[in-house]
Amino acid sequence: MNNKPKIKITPKDEVIAKSRALFTKEVLAFIDKCMEDPNPKSQLIAVLHKVQSKDGFLSKEKMDAVAQIMQIPAAKVSGVTTFYHLFSLKPKGKYVISVCMGTACYVKGAEKVLKKIKEELGIDIGETSKDNLFTLSEARCLGMCAMAPVVQIGEDVHAKVTPDKVPALLETYINKN
Ligand code: FES
Repeated sequence: MNNKPKIKITPKDEVIAKSRALFTKEVLAFIDKCMEDPNPKSQLIAVLHKVQSKDGFLSKEKMDAVAQIMQIPAAKVSGVTTFYHLFSLKPKGKYVISVCMGTACYVKGAEKVLKKIKEELGIDIGETSKDNLFTLSEARCLGMCAMAPVVQIGEDVHAKVTPDKVPALLETYINKN
């Protein structure tokens, strides 16, 4: 006779299992660690950051999955992601362009550089180019004020950028693809 206790799988367990299947082992380990917190709900922002760091943005599907796993209402998760502008709900381009608009860069003409980038790519702040190569954003001081104006493209930081240097600069990244 088999005396093993039967584990009853409830519909809720199934939903959670399906939700967990959407994440990598690394992300799941992070979520599980956060769930050990005496107040796991306080870890929601950390979990969302982790998910975004892997995907570059937060899809509705992943947000709902986080809600299921952490047993937090989906509306609350969605509310947090729209409240904090650090969360992106749309996929980003291969290269995120961050134009520093901190004081030093602003004084040295960052606004003109930003305008030129917008013209060249035909996009505004927060938008992604049609070829999915660039997403444009603003930054507040990239910590290189002596090299102002500063523009970060992907991992690369470019110093003393002027509007006339913008086309060639963008071309470098276009040619990499
Ligand atoms: S203000 Fe732009 S790097 Fe500091």
